[in-house]
Amino acid sequence: MQVSLNSLYWATFILLTTTQAIQVAPLDTYQIGPYYVQNCKSNNNNMATLLKTMTAALQPAITDLGSTSSSKAYTTFFKDVSRAPYVRTVFSNVTKGVSVATAPGSPSSEPNFICVDARDQVTWDENGQQVDAYTRCGGGEWPAMALLTTPYIVICPLFFTQAAVPVQSSASCLKVRPYLNRFAQGGKSLIVYQVWHLLHELVHYYVYSTEQDSLDVYGVNQCVDLPGGKAMLNAQSYVYYVANIWLGCTKFPTVDTRPSGRFRGVELLETEANSTALKANESIALVVQNVSVQAVPLVQTSGDVDPDLTSRGLRRHKIVYG
Ligand SMILES: *[C@@H]1O[C@H](CO)[C@@H](O)[C@H](O)[C@H]1NC(C)=O
Ligand SMILES: *[C@@H]1O[C@H](CO)[C@@H](O)[C@H](O)[C@H]1NC(C)=O
Ligand SMILES: *[C@@H]1O[C@H](CO)[C@@H](O)[C@H](O)[C@H]1NC(C)=O
Ligand SMILES: *[C@@H]1O[C@H](CO)[C@@H](O)[C@H](O)[C@H]1NC(C)=O
Repeated sequence: MQVSLNSLYWATFILLTTTQAIQVAPLDTYQIGPYYVQNCKSNNNNMATLLKTMTAALQPAITDLGSTSSSKAYTTFFKDVSRAPYVRTVFSNVTKGVSVATAPGSPSSEPNFICVDARDQVTWDENGQQVDAYTRCGGGEWPAMALLTTPYIVICPLFFTQAAVPVQSSASCLKVRPYLNRFAQGGKSLIVYQVWHLLHELVHYYVYSTEQDSLDVYGVNQCVDLPGGKAMLNAQSYVYYVANIWLGCTKFPTVDTRPSGRFRGVELLETEANSTALKANESIALVVQNVSVQAVPLVQTSGDVDPDLTSRGLRRHKIVYG
């Protein structure tokens, strides 16, 4: 798993294999629109509001992806317009919560959110040891994690301590330092919201179902540096794109479109936290930055997960979505 910045702020994923037999305790289950949420208790209504807000927030991006010319937000994060139909399908699937095979050969399932608030609710095997999702949430280190190859997305206790939805105003947009050609902030202020964590995990869910691959590069400038093919696998790139469109942001660094080669990857100094100290007339160090990408091992399938929750004798309730 790629951890490029303080994990406190970022949603993530864990890839499980067939041998990692996941176990989910019988938990109270509600249906919210197309999604299932388990064990969220007093947060059921919050989850319903968040999913509704997220669906609405995706609409401008879906429209943007269907337009004839690429927006700056799109080019900044996905580069090549040829990927727009794929990105659009991911978002469209997210809004409908469509049922997909979570891995090749696995049964189809809708995403299931599980609000983990104690031990022994979600466990799996890791190198012969039982791992508990509650422990993996790290006593408040991760807000959420998608358990890829399974239908489950774990919502950690930290999630509910963070802000739900940003103010929809271009005042919330990131600033750009033109002389550095970088975003001035690392991206947290744009992205650390419950609504975007949910989107992040759902993007992992649908991207994995089609690509059997996944990436977590978090910092906004690192996401700008990703080539389009990598961005397509990187959940946070989707979230930055949606957030920028939804807020109506217009300022972006100029994307380096030079072909790979001698100058590609030469970036100006990473400016996070130090940027305010820099003036236009001060000398700026040039560093060669490797884009941090983590290859995820391919797995075949997980036949261990029973997506049919009713067979576990769970109670189902329906929350009207709208
Ligand atoms: C979107 O959902 C359809 C099923 O409705 C599925 O065939 C397709 O692979 C999915 N694509 C993505 C990227 O999730
Ligand atoms: C500012 O930059 C210097 C030099 O690169 C680095 O040592 C320092 O840790 C940075 N400060 C912060 C707050 O990131
Ligand atoms: C840079 O410009 C500022 C004013 O904008 C000035 O105070 C400072 O002395 C200049 N620094 C250098 C190294 O020229
Ligand atoms: C960049 O990555 C390559 C391959 O991982 C490595 O060999 C090289 O040392 C890295 N360069 C820098 C400047 O980190």
